[in-house]
Amino acid sequence: MAHKLARLVETIVEATATPYPVDRYLELIDPMITWRDTRAKITDVRHQTDRSVTLALRPTRQWKGHEAGQYIEVSVVVDGVRHRRFFSPVGAAGNTGEIELTVTAHSGGFVSRYLRENARPGMVLGIGAASGEFRLPSDRPERIVLVSGGSGITPVLSMLRTLVAEGRHAPVTFVHYARTPDDVPYRAELDALDRTLEHVDVRFHFTRTDNPEHFDAAHLADVAEVDGAQVYMCGPASLMTAVREYADQRGIADRLFSEAFTVDTTPVLDPNQPITGEVTYTESDVATANDGRTLLEQAEAAGLTPEYGCRMGICFSCTKVRKSGCTRNILTGELDSEPDQHIQICVSAPVGDVEIEV
Ligand SMILES: Cc1cc2nc3c(=O)[nH]c(=O)nc-3n(C[C@H](O)[C@H](O)[C@H](O)COP(=O)(O)OP(=O)(O)OC[C@H]3O[C@@H](n4cnc5c(N)ncnc54)[C@H](O)[C@@H]3O)c2cc1C
Ligand code: FES
Repeated sequence: MAHKLARLVETIVEATATPYPVDRYLELIDPMITWRDTRAKITDVRHQTDRSVTLALRPTRQWKGHEAGQYIEVSVVVDGVRHRRFFSPVGAAGNTGEIELTVTAHSGGFVSRYLRENARPGMVLGIGAASGEFRLPSDRPERIVLVSGGSGITPVLSMLRTLVAEGRHAPVTFVHYARTPDDVPYRAELDALDRTLEHVDVRFHFTRTDNPEHFDAAHLADVAEVDGAQVYMCGPASLMTAVREYADQRGIADRLFSEAFTVDTTPVLDPNQPITGEVTYTESDVATANDGRTLLEQAEAAGLTPEYGCRMGICFSCTKVRKSGCTRNILTGELDSEPDQHIQICVSAPVGDVEIEV
């Protein structure tokens, strides 16, 4: 009843406050007073490594917490333009009072570099509800192996912290790949867990040292192949491909769960289906020869700047109308040629001539 009444008041207030939602007015008073939007104020900024920034955030009341491994949409306004990206909270699950994010700056990356250079206490970011299927099962496995590389440390560290906070004593092995020892955020915390908790085993491998260590079956065999072990991994494509091949060979692929921060958008070259046609960007008066990449990448190569968020088909920020022509969904391989359809241009590659409303 109280909920229905609140919704009624909300609808009336919004109707009177048109043309903008109530939150647009409230943010003029204080961006942390919101009716519907979930926002978070940065309360602390740490630079644990040269390329990353760790943010502590205090969310508004709408934040419901996350499960270990999930991600959230973060939006940041730069020069009046809102940009959306996804980050995986690093804290243990269930903390509704604080969100911790560690953002690794990519060379040429817009939002990650902006946050690395400009994030300050007091800055307010937009956030979304936690989502994602990459998470620990509620029936915790007997043995857990966590594998991460580079920025992929965040969701699996959330898993480790959650397991530690639960006081479980089942064995957990945390295997992390970084360029050098200086590139590991949370190094002191991980070393301390390894030293002080008998059931936690932390292993580091460095890929850009005099003696580089890339993935090798020996790094996991003694733990991942134990009966009942489940492996959770997140990292760069090269690491994840190597671990997947290993898991296939050892017959443990059904116990391997993974999260990617990017998808491979390399065009599939099929001699029976040569790349042909022209892409016409109907809103921009631009046309270019189809080179087989996704419509988002081809639009960017043509100097256009369509909006995007995840670049991997999860957020719909890049949705545009395909006026005509056929596209292939690079995740599913499905072809679609119905005119005037909304498509996600980050995961759609043209097959022949395509007109897209960009
Ligand atoms: C589920 C999920 C969870 C994630 N969790 C984390 C996390 O916890 N920590 C973390 O650090 N990251 C995380 N990420 C990655 C993060 O969301 C961003 O993708 C990353 O920070 C890069 O964003 P950016 O704005 O800096 O780079 P962008 O500016 O978006 O650039 C990324 C790439 O897009 C291409 N590109 C962009 N613009 C152009 C253009 N105009 N022309 C040509 N190419 C272009 C380039 O290939 C570039 O390398 C996660 C991603 C996902 C999907
Ligand atoms: S950018 Fe997220 S679905 Fe395309």
